Amino acid sequence: MRLRLIALFLLLLLGFCRVAAQPSSPATTAEIERRIEALLRRMTLEEKIGQLSQYTSATPETLKLVREGKVGSLFNVMGADNTNAAQRIAVEQTRLKIPLLFGYDVIHGYRTIFPVPIASASSFDPQLIEGIERVAAKEATAAGVKWTFAPMVDVARDPRWGRMVEGAGEDPYLGSVVAAARVRGFQGHDIAIPQSLIACAKHFAGYGAAEGARDYNTAEMSEQLLREVYLPPFHAAIQTGSGTIMAAFEALNGVPATANSQLLTGILRREWGFSGMVVSDYGAVHELIAHGVAANDQHAALKALTAGVDMDMADGAYQSLLSLEPGKLPMKRLDEAVRRVLRLKFKAGLFQHPYTDPTRESLAQLTPDNLQLARRAAEESVILLKNQNHLLPLSKSLGTVAVIGPLADDKGDQLGSWAAQGRVEDVVTPLEGVQAKLPNVQVLYAKGVDIPSFERQPLTTTVAAPAPLSATGVAGVSTAAGTGGIQEAVEAANKAEVTVVFMGESAMMTGEASSRAFLDFPGRQEELLERLVATGKPVVLVIESGRPLDIRWANAHVAAIIQAWYPGVQAGNAIADVLLGDASPSARLPLSWPRSVGAIPVYYNHKNTGRPTSPDRWHTGYIDESSEPLFPFGYGLTYTTFRYSPVRVLTETVAPGGEVRVEAELQNTGRRTGTEVVQLYAHNRVGPISPPVRELRGFQRITLRPGEKKTVRFAINTNDLGVYDSHQRRVIPSGLYDVWIAPNSAEGVSSTFSVSSVASSSGSR
Ligand code: NOJ
Repeated sequence: MRLRLIALFLLLLLGFCRVAAQPSSPATTAEIERRIEALLRRMTLEEKIGQLSQYTSATPETLKLVREGKVGSLFNVMGADNTNAAQRIAVEQTRLKIPLLFGYDVIHGYRTIFPVPIASASSFDPQLIEGIERVAAKEATAAGVKWTFAPMVDVARDPRWGRMVEGAGEDPYLGSVVAAARVRGFQGHDIAIPQSLIACAKHFAGYGAAEGARDYNTAEMSEQLLREVYLPPFHAAIQTGSGTIMAAFEALNGVPATANSQLLTGILRREWGFSGMVVSDYGAVHELIAHGVAANDQHAALKALTAGVDMDMADGAYQSLLSLEPGKLPMKRLDEAVRRVLRLKFKAGLFQHPYTDPTRESLAQLTPDNLQLARRAAEESVILLKNQNHLLPLSKSLGTVAVIGPLADDKGDQLGSWAAQGRVEDVVTPLEGVQAKLPNVQVLYAKGVDIPSFERQPLTTTVAAPAPLSATGVAGVSTAAGTGGIQEAVEAANKAEVTVVFMGESAMMTGEASSRAFLDFPGRQEELLERLVATGKPVVLVIESGRPLDIRWANAHVAAIIQAWYPGVQAGNAIADVLLGDASPSARLPLSWPRSVGAIPVYYNHKNTGRPTSPDRWHTGYIDESSEPLFPFGYGLTYTTFRYSPVRVLTETVAPGGEVRVEAELQNTGRRTGTEVVQLYAHNRVGPISPPVRELRGFQRITLRPGEKKTVRFAINTNDLGVYDSHQRRVIPSGLYDVWIAPNSAEGVSSTFSVSSVASSSGSR
């Protein structure tokens, strides 16, 4: 009897769990569509345009608009009480009771701040990335946010562009894998689940290719380049189900993305079948006037709507559609946009559950599990670039360590740019992390210098005299600790057995509107480094930045270098774990590290040219600098070493549509357990257009104990080898391909396989 009761209880519990896990959206698509049509029939033009309008913040003015039924979405409103209060107006005080959708930039965590996106992309670990975004989704939704303006999936080949920090680097394949992982993490398996956050892949498209890397600047590129390099991560995000897409600010080949029907309707809707919602970027509809393609807001709104922008962010330009002459408003297109907004709200369960349970909010934030994941993510995101004479990991039985630099104990900078609700008091700095791990070691700290605060360059240009390397950044205002600061740091280094110096960019120097003309360490940081190295004591340089910097001097003179990006709330613990060997570095560069600004752009998947780089003068390159990167894409060291066997091709000839199987043996040849990111590259010898010299086609993170061996297997589907010919047809080139299984994009010994005959496939990848 007792057993039966227990069984009955378990069955009931199972049933309850199932019900609890059920998405709360209406049961069928048909039911959703029926309700959308019923609403549409009742909506006035004002209410329709209202659903297409998004405003920022819950000000008395925006709340008044909500009450009038003129708002579809609010952003930058968070906290369950605040979102519920605004929602109550929409749901209880408007004629049609359509709930609001609350959006926010949850870029790398909500309250638990994780490493910046370029850092987590460096982990080459999609499961980790998915887990990070799952936590971000849980925290954000508990605070009433249902929609994030992330992931940014723009490919970036130029580190002068400040937003490189928000993306996954230079590679379309890695970018696609990361984009898919982030969307899966944010949205879970159903956006109706209260803990799921609607994703928004942005900025569609070509935003990362801004000329001169000046943010918002125009981008000019061939359609082939667009399709081969810049579009794949968007397509991956959409195939993974991203609920929304954000149109970019920039003009692509002269047509602003916000009014670009080739992008927003041709590619996105017709080719890819995207059925979600498109939002403009902040004020971008109005900006069509400055772009010179619209005479006024009404003209701009009409262009954006017609091109395919469903929701207008922040500028209210869509309101001007109300006063359009009768018959001029494309009602079919308008209704389609309204349907998309309503459909998203239905699918997200907002009609059933418009409010956020306020008891979830505080319980969801900064939980021990979230912090644990933030620490692991930070450990997996730091890249070991150099480690001469095995200086790292440091011994825990040192007598004295000097921890130096402007980023060693600054809490705010550890968070990185766009840190949502991250708080400085949540942050463990590198100094605190090292101190906590070395209670019996004397840890000396000196800041040394400050990082200048950068203001915008004045519009009137005066030609500045070339500044010395350590003092460029002419707009920088240095409140530096002066030579006294450097002297103090040198004294600390002199007393210590080893110095760890934390330098780079302040977080505010990265992200939106943070393009740089110079890539050196701002202010007097390099001078500080030179003086520390001059002590003759071993120096470890930990760089925190949102982009690769010009580290030629450091690379030539410093024994060990770590690129830590901005690691988030657990920065100090994670960096201390890596410095002291409790974690081994395992991240890899998601970009090619340029030697100098003049060598930009540099990316591994470049074309061969008719005169490939060679020491001979009459070949592509520079006469005064190598055109190779300082560190190649995919590069990163760890505390052990690995040996790769030559790649074995198991399928030497394959028909289009078939699969090529390749493998190599990996062995840990060092004395510590370590993780290797094994990378698969391919190159087709002869194609319809000049092919890149190598393209990443797969990767795996493999952890091996000392001496351990493993056969690492990959399969390449030949459909993925398709390229666009000059008529934008997708073809799979036949003939010989080179293939590498290698530790990075510049190493490895290739083998070959061949694809037997040409086949053409329509559509795109
Ligand atoms: C402008 C940025 O370009 C975009 O990425 C962001 O989501 C919006 N502002 C909203 O904050």
